[in-house]
Amino acid sequence: MPFDLETTDRLLTTTRAVRRRLDCDRPVARETILDCIRIAQQAPTGSNEQNWRWVVVTDPAKRAELGAIYARGHETIVALGKDKLGQTKRVYESAAWFAERLADVPVHVIPCLVGRPPEKFSPVMHASAYGSIFPAVWNFQLALRARGLGSVLTTMHLIWEGEVAELLAIPKDVLQVGLIPVAYTLGTDFKVAHRPPPESITYFDSWGD
Ligand SMILES: Cc1cc2nc3c(=O)[nH]c(=O)nc-3n(C[C@H](O)[C@H](O)[C@H](O)COP(=O)(O)O)c2cc1C
Repeated sequence: MPFDLETTDRLLTTTRAVRRRLDCDRPVARETILDCIRIAQQAPTGSNEQNWRWVVVTDPAKRAELGAIYARGHETIVALGKDKLGQTKRVYESAAWFAERLADVPVHVIPCLVGRPPEKFSPVMHASAYGSIFPAVWNFQLALRARGLGSVLTTMHLIWEGEVAELLAIPKDVLQVGLIPVAYTLGTDFKVAHRPPPESITYFDSWGD
């Protein structure tokens, strides 16, 4: 085996969306964020464009403004989670709790792509655009986890993307794809989540087989 599978699989299967266990009192060094972005940069992009940008926000006043924008989504999260059950219900409860606490998290990272896909839906354009940033985002989150930090990919603020662009001087041709709060975690023992067996979602040679 080229890798220690036990450690690799543990990293891949226990990198959870962390909200309640973010340590908002412990500072995060700029170099740590840059180390994780360096790892994120090894992710694939369509046509090898590597057109990622990362806007890292640590300034408390700007985090407060981002937090206030994000908190507007609280009611939406509560409404969406109303009839959910089990694991999904717990996720919505956690997300709703978190919506009003974002500002406390010491680092907010906004991954961006230079060049917006056209408004009109075209599967190839959208897959190429988002497919050129989310692998890097996940690499970033895995690299954080390996260093004792936690994160959660959020997209709620994109409802108000324009306001955030103005706040952070993000140019008009740049697409924000999320907002990732980052902090050290309280403890590092995260669990493997329940997922259905892969056989139930995988088909060989034709759909349904
Ligand atoms: C595309 C995408 C958008 C998401 N948006 C939000 C969000 O706006 N707010 C939030 O709290 N979590 C958000 N999440 C985190 C999910 O709730 C979380 O990944 C999911 O519940 C699974 O939890 P786990 O990662 O711990 O297994 C998002 C995740 C993805 C992949």
